[in-house]
Amino acid sequence: MSYECILTEVRGEGARKTGLITLNRPKQLNALNGQLMDELGAALLAFEADEGIGCIVITGSEKAFAAGADIAAMATLGYMEAYTGGFITRNWETIRQVRKPVIAAVAGFALGGGNELAMMCDIILAADTAKFGQPEIKLGTIPGAGGTQRLPRAVGKAKAMELLLTGRMMGAEEAERAGLVARVVPAASLLDEALAVAAQINELSGPSLMMIKECVNEAYESGLSTGVRTERHMFQSLFGTEDQREGMAAFLEKRKPAFRHR
Ligand code: CAA
Repeated sequence: MSYECILTEVRGEGARKTGLITLNRPKQLNALNGQLMDELGAALLAFEADEGIGCIVITGSEKAFAAGADIAAMATLGYMEAYTGGFITRNWETIRQVRKPVIAAVAGFALGGGNELAMMCDIILAADTAKFGQPEIKLGTIPGAGGTQRLPRAVGKAKAMELLLTGRMMGAEEAERAGLVARVVPAASLLDEALAVAAQINELSGPSLMMIKECVNEAYESGLSTGVRTERHMFQSLFGTEDQREGMAAFLEKRKPAFRHR
Protein backbone atom coordinates (compact mmCIF):
# COMPACT_ATOMS: atom_id res chain seq x y z
CA MET A 1 0.00 0.00 0.00
CA SER A 2 1.31 3.49 -0.77
CA TYR A 3 0.98 6.27 1.75
CA GLU A 4 1.08 10.07 1.45
CA CYS A 5 1.38 11.24 5.05
CA ILE A 6 3.76 8.58 6.40
CA LEU A 7 6.78 6.61 5.20
CA THR A 8 7.27 2.96 6.04
CA GLU A 9 10.42 0.85 5.90
CA VAL A 10 11.69 -2.44 7.23
CA ARG A 11 15.02 -2.15 9.07
CA GLY A 12 17.38 -4.66 10.68
CA GLU A 13 19.35 -7.77 9.91
CA GLY A 14 18.09 -10.67 11.99
CA ALA A 15 15.29 -13.19 11.52
CA ARG A 16 12.83 -10.66 12.95
CA LYS A 17 13.12 -7.09 11.76
CA THR A 18 11.82 -3.65 12.76
CA GLY A 19 8.91 -1.87 11.11
CA LEU A 20 9.78 1.82 10.93
CA ILE A 21 6.99 4.38 10.48
CA THR A 22 7.98 8.03 9.86
CA LEU A 23 5.25 10.67 10.16
CA ASN A 24 5.69 12.82 7.09
CA ARG A 25 3.75 16.09 6.90
CA PRO A 26 6.79 18.31 7.43
CA LYS A 27 5.13 21.60 6.39
CA GLN A 28 2.49 21.11 9.09
CA LEU A 29 4.98 19.81 11.68
CA ASN A 30 3.36 16.39 11.29
CA ALA A 31 -0.03 17.64 12.48
CA LEU A 32 -2.30 14.63 12.69
CA ASN A 33 -5.21 14.71 10.26
CA GLY A 34 -7.68 11.98 9.34
CA GLN A 35 -5.62 10.71 6.42
CA LEU A 36 -2.42 10.46 8.47
CA MET A 37 -4.26 8.62 11.24
CA ASP A 38 -5.84 6.22 8.73
CA GLU A 39 -2.44 5.53 7.17
CA LEU A 40 -0.78 5.11 10.56
CA GLY A 41 -3.48 2.62 11.58
CA ALA A 42 -3.08 0.65 8.33
CA ALA A 43 0.73 0.58 8.61
CA LEU A 44 0.60 -0.57 12.23
CA LEU A 45 -1.82 -3.38 11.41
CA ALA A 46 0.30 -4.45 8.41
CA PHE A 47 3.45 -4.70 10.59
CA GLU A 48 1.42 -6.45 13.30
CA ALA A 49 0.32 -9.09 10.77
CA ASP A 50 3.84 -9.58 9.34
CA GLU A 51 5.58 -12.49 11.07
CA GLY A 52 8.96 -11.14 10.01
CA ILE A 53 8.47 -8.00 12.15
CA GLY A 54 9.27 -8.15 15.87
CA CYS A 55 8.98 -4.53 16.91
CA ILE A 56 7.70 -1.20 15.52
CA VAL A 57 9.29 2.27 15.76
CA ILE A 58 7.27 5.45 15.15
CA THR A 59 9.22 8.65 14.57
CA GLY A 60 8.79 12.12 13.08
CA SER A 61 11.20 14.77 11.84
CA GLU A 62 14.02 16.64 13.56
CA LYS A 63 11.68 19.53 14.24
CA ALA A 64 8.53 17.67 15.23
CA PHE A 65 7.39 14.22 16.24
CA ALA A 66 3.88 15.70 15.83
CA ALA A 67 2.56 19.15 16.78
CA GLY A 68 -0.89 17.78 17.61
CA ALA A 69 -4.16 17.19 15.88
CA ASP A 70 -4.50 19.26 12.70
CA ILE A 71 -6.04 22.50 13.91
CA ALA A 72 -6.93 23.66 10.38
CA ALA A 73 -8.86 20.44 9.79
CA MET A 74 -10.92 20.77 12.96
CA ALA A 75 -11.25 24.52 13.56
CA THR A 76 -14.74 24.79 12.04
CA LEU A 77 -16.18 21.39 13.00
CA GLY A 78 -19.58 21.40 14.66
CA TYR A 79 -20.41 19.11 17.58
CA MET A 80 -22.21 16.49 15.49
CA GLU A 81 -19.41 16.40 12.90
CA ALA A 82 -16.88 15.91 15.66
CA TYR A 83 -19.08 13.29 17.36
CA THR A 84 -19.98 11.23 14.30
CA GLY A 85 -17.09 11.98 11.92
CA GLY A 86 -14.60 10.42 14.26
CA PHE A 87 -11.75 12.67 13.10
CA ILE A 88 -10.30 12.99 16.57
CA THR A 89 -11.02 9.42 17.60
CA ARG A 90 -10.52 7.61 14.29
CA ASN A 91 -7.79 4.99 14.52
CA TRP A 92 -6.35 6.42 17.74
CA GLU A 93 -7.07 3.12 19.47
CA THR A 94 -5.42 1.02 16.74
CA ILE A 95 -2.06 1.58 18.32
CA ARG A 96 -3.40 0.16 21.58
CA GLN A 97 -4.54 -2.99 19.73
CA VAL A 98 -1.04 -3.72 18.46
CA ARG A 99 0.44 -6.54 20.53
CA LYS A 100 4.02 -6.14 19.32
CA PRO A 101 6.19 -3.59 21.15
CA VAL A 102 5.94 -0.04 19.75
CA ILE A 103 8.70 2.53 20.40
CA ALA A 104 8.16 6.28 19.91
CA ALA A 105 11.39 8.04 18.89
CA VAL A 106 10.63 11.68 19.63
CA ALA A 107 12.59 14.73 18.47
CA GLY A 108 11.25 18.28 18.55
CA PHE A 109 7.61 18.98 19.34
CA ALA A 110 5.34 16.28 20.75
CA LEU A 111 2.31 18.40 21.52
CA GLY A 112 -1.37 17.67 22.06
CA GLY A 113 -2.26 14.63 19.96
CA GLY A 114 1.48 14.20 19.28
CA ASN A 115 2.18 13.70 22.96
CA GLU A 116 -0.91 11.50 23.24
CA LEU A 117 0.33 9.36 20.35
CA ALA A 118 3.75 9.00 22.01
CA MET A 119 2.07 8.05 25.30
CA MET A 120 0.14 5.26 23.53
CA CYS A 121 3.46 3.69 22.54
CA ASP A 122 5.21 1.27 24.91
CA ILE A 123 8.55 3.06 25.18
CA ILE A 124 9.32 6.75 24.53
CA LEU A 125 12.92 7.54 23.61
CA ALA A 126 13.51 11.29 23.50
CA ALA A 127 16.10 13.35 21.65
CA ASP A 128 17.57 16.14 23.78
CA THR A 129 15.58 18.52 21.53
CA ALA A 130 12.21 16.98 22.41
CA LYS A 131 9.46 19.16 23.88
CA PHE A 132 6.33 17.60 25.32
CA GLY A 133 3.07 19.30 26.18
CA GLN A 134 -0.71 19.41 26.04
CA PRO A 135 -1.38 22.96 24.82
CA GLU A 136 -5.08 22.38 24.00
CA ILE A 137 -6.10 24.76 26.80
CA LYS A 138 -4.62 27.59 24.73
CA LEU A 139 -7.01 26.69 21.90
CA GLY A 140 -10.05 26.78 24.13
CA THR A 141 -10.36 23.01 24.18
CA ILE A 142 -9.00 19.96 26.02
CA PRO A 143 -6.99 16.88 24.98
CA GLY A 144 -9.12 14.44 23.01
CA ALA A 145 -6.94 11.34 22.69
CA GLY A 146 -6.16 10.36 26.27
CA GLY A 147 -3.99 13.27 27.47
CA THR A 148 -5.95 13.94 30.66
CA GLN A 149 -5.80 10.22 31.50
CA ARG A 150 -2.35 9.02 30.45
CA LEU A 151 -0.33 12.09 31.45
CA PRO A 152 -1.25 11.92 35.18
CA ARG A 153 -0.54 8.18 35.18
CA ALA A 154 2.88 8.86 33.59
CA VAL A 155 4.05 11.93 35.54
CA GLY A 156 1.72 12.15 38.56
CA LYS A 157 -1.19 14.46 39.22
CA ALA A 158 0.70 17.61 40.24
CA LYS A 159 2.89 17.89 37.14
CA ALA A 160 0.10 16.71 34.83
CA MET A 161 -2.25 19.33 36.21
CA GLU A 162 0.36 22.05 35.78
CA LEU A 163 1.09 21.01 32.18
CA LEU A 164 -2.57 20.58 31.26
CA LEU A 165 -3.85 23.72 32.97
CA THR A 166 -1.12 26.04 31.64
CA GLY A 167 -0.33 24.38 28.31
CA ARG A 168 3.40 24.86 28.91
CA MET A 169 5.96 22.61 27.21
CA MET A 170 8.44 20.48 29.11
CA GLY A 171 11.89 19.63 27.77
CA ALA A 172 13.39 16.17 27.39
CA GLU A 173 15.36 16.20 30.66
CA GLU A 174 12.32 17.23 32.68
CA ALA A 175 10.25 14.59 30.87
CA GLU A 176 12.78 11.93 31.80
CA ARG A 177 12.89 13.05 35.46
CA ALA A 178 9.09 13.00 35.51
CA GLY A 179 8.94 9.44 34.16
CA LEU A 180 7.33 10.21 30.80
CA VAL A 181 10.31 9.04 28.74
CA ALA A 182 12.55 6.02 29.13
CA ARG A 183 15.78 7.76 28.10
CA VAL A 184 17.16 10.96 26.56
CA VAL A 185 19.75 10.65 23.77
CA PRO A 186 21.56 13.16 21.54
CA ALA A 187 19.27 14.21 18.67
CA ALA A 188 21.77 13.00 16.06
CA SER A 189 21.63 9.43 17.35
CA LEU A 190 17.90 9.18 18.17
CA LEU A 191 16.90 6.89 15.33
CA ASP A 192 19.98 4.67 15.72
CA GLU A 193 19.28 4.33 19.45
CA ALA A 194 15.62 3.48 18.81
CA LEU A 195 16.56 0.91 16.17
CA ALA A 196 19.16 -0.57 18.55
CA VAL A 197 16.51 -1.01 21.27
CA ALA A 198 14.19 -2.53 18.66
CA ALA A 199 16.95 -4.91 17.49
CA GLN A 200 17.43 -6.10 21.08
CA ILE A 201 13.69 -6.71 21.40
CA ASN A 202 13.55 -8.51 18.03
CA GLU A 203 15.89 -11.18 19.41
CA LEU A 204 13.58 -12.01 22.31
CA SER A 205 10.62 -14.34 22.53
CA GLY A 206 7.49 -13.00 20.80
CA PRO A 207 4.91 -14.60 23.12
CA SER A 208 6.71 -13.34 26.25
CA LEU A 209 7.00 -9.82 24.79
CA MET A 210 3.29 -9.70 24.02
CA MET A 211 2.37 -10.98 27.47
CA ILE A 212 4.67 -8.52 29.25
CA LYS A 213 3.02 -5.72 27.29
CA GLU A 214 -0.45 -6.98 28.22
CA CYS A 215 0.51 -7.29 31.91
CA VAL A 216 2.08 -3.81 32.12
CA ASN A 217 -0.96 -2.29 30.41
CA GLU A 218 -3.12 -4.12 32.96
CA ALA A 219 -1.07 -2.51 35.76
CA TYR A 220 -1.61 0.84 34.10
CA GLU A 221 -5.33 0.40 33.58
CA SER A 222 -6.63 -1.71 36.48
CA GLY A 223 -6.11 -2.37 40.18
CA LEU A 224 -3.16 -4.25 41.73
CA SER A 225 -4.98 -7.50 42.47
CA THR A 226 -6.39 -7.76 38.91
CA GLY A 227 -2.96 -7.00 37.49
CA VAL A 228 -1.17 -9.55 39.67
CA ARG A 229 -3.78 -12.20 38.77
CA THR A 230 -3.35 -11.45 35.04
CA GLU A 231 0.43 -11.64 35.38
CA ARG A 232 0.25 -15.00 37.20
CA HIS A 233 -1.99 -16.48 34.50
CA MET A 234 0.27 -15.19 31.73
CA PHE A 235 3.34 -16.56 33.54
CA GLN A 236 1.70 -19.98 33.87
CA SER A 237 0.53 -19.98 30.24
CA LEU A 238 4.06 -19.38 28.95
CA PHE A 239 4.95 -22.90 30.15
CA GLY A 240 2.94 -24.01 27.12
CA THR A 241 5.36 -22.34 24.68
CA GLU A 242 8.43 -23.71 22.90
CA ASP A 243 10.27 -20.47 23.70
CA GLN A 244 10.04 -21.08 27.47
CA ARG A 245 11.56 -24.57 27.02
CA GLU A 246 14.27 -23.15 24.78
CA GLY A 247 15.01 -20.08 26.96
CA MET A 248 15.43 -22.05 30.17
CA ALA A 249 17.30 -24.94 28.50
CA ALA A 250 19.69 -22.45 26.87
CA PHE A 251 20.39 -20.84 30.24
CA LEU A 252 21.15 -24.20 31.84
CA GLU A 253 23.30 -25.26 28.88
CA LYS A 254 25.13 -21.88 28.95
CA ARG A 255 24.28 -20.98 25.34
CA LYS A 256 22.32 -18.30 23.52
CA PRO A 257 18.62 -19.16 23.08
CA ALA A 258 17.18 -19.54 19.57
CA PHE A 259 13.62 -18.32 19.97
CA ARG A 260 11.00 -19.38 17.44
CA HIS A 261 8.28 -17.03 18.72
CA ARG A 262 5.82 -19.78 19.60
N1 CAA B 1 -2.25 21.81 13.22
C1 CAA B 1 -2.15 22.36 12.00
N2 CAA B 1 -1.05 23.03 11.58
C2 CAA B 1 -0.04 23.15 12.44
C3 CAA B 1 -0.07 22.61 13.73
C4 CAA B 1 -1.25 21.91 14.12
N3 CAA B 1 -1.37 21.31 15.31
N4 CAA B 1 1.08 22.92 14.36
C5 CAA B 1 1.82 23.60 13.48
N5 CAA B 1 1.15 23.76 12.33
C6 CAA B 1 1.58 24.46 11.11
C7 CAA B 1 1.53 25.96 11.30
O1 CAA B 1 0.22 26.43 11.08
C8 CAA B 1 2.52 26.42 10.27
O2 CAA B 1 1.90 26.40 9.01
P1 CAA B 1 2.16 27.62 7.96
O3 CAA B 1 3.64 27.54 7.66
O4 CAA B 1 1.30 27.24 6.78
O5 CAA B 1 1.77 28.87 8.65
C9 CAA B 1 3.56 25.33 10.28
O6 CAA B 1 2.95 24.19 10.87
C10 CAA B 1 4.79 25.68 11.12
O7 CAA B 1 4.33 26.07 12.40
P2 CAA B 1 4.79 27.46 13.12
O8 CAA B 1 5.08 28.49 12.10
O9 CAA B 1 3.79 27.77 14.17
O10 CAA B 1 6.17 26.96 13.75
P3 CAA B 1 6.87 27.49 15.09
O11 CAA B 1 8.20 26.83 15.10
O12 CAA B 1 6.81 28.96 15.16
O13 CAA B 1 5.96 26.92 16.29
C11 CAA B 1 4.73 25.23 17.49
C12 CAA B 1 5.88 25.54 16.50
C13 CAA B 1 5.03 25.80 18.87
C14 CAA B 1 4.60 23.71 17.56
C15 CAA B 1 3.42 25.87 16.94
O14 CAA B 1 3.26 25.49 15.59
C16 CAA B 1 2.18 25.44 17.68
O15 CAA B 1 1.92 25.93 18.77
N6 CAA B 1 1.39 24.51 17.08
C17 CAA B 1 0.14 24.08 17.64
C18 CAA B 1 0.34 23.12 18.79
C19 CAA B 1 -0.99 22.72 19.37
O16 CAA B 1 -1.74 23.54 19.84
N7 CAA B 1 -1.28 21.40 19.39
C20 CAA B 1 -2.51 20.86 19.93
C21 CAA B 1 -3.53 20.67 18.83
S1 CAA B 1 -5.11 20.18 19.45
C22 CAA B 1 -4.99 18.50 19.73
O17 CAA B 1 -3.97 17.90 19.55
C23 CAA B 1 -6.26 17.85 20.26
C24 CAA B 1 -6.09 16.41 20.66
O18 CAA B 1 -5.85 16.16 21.82
C25 CAA B 1 -6.30 15.31 19.75
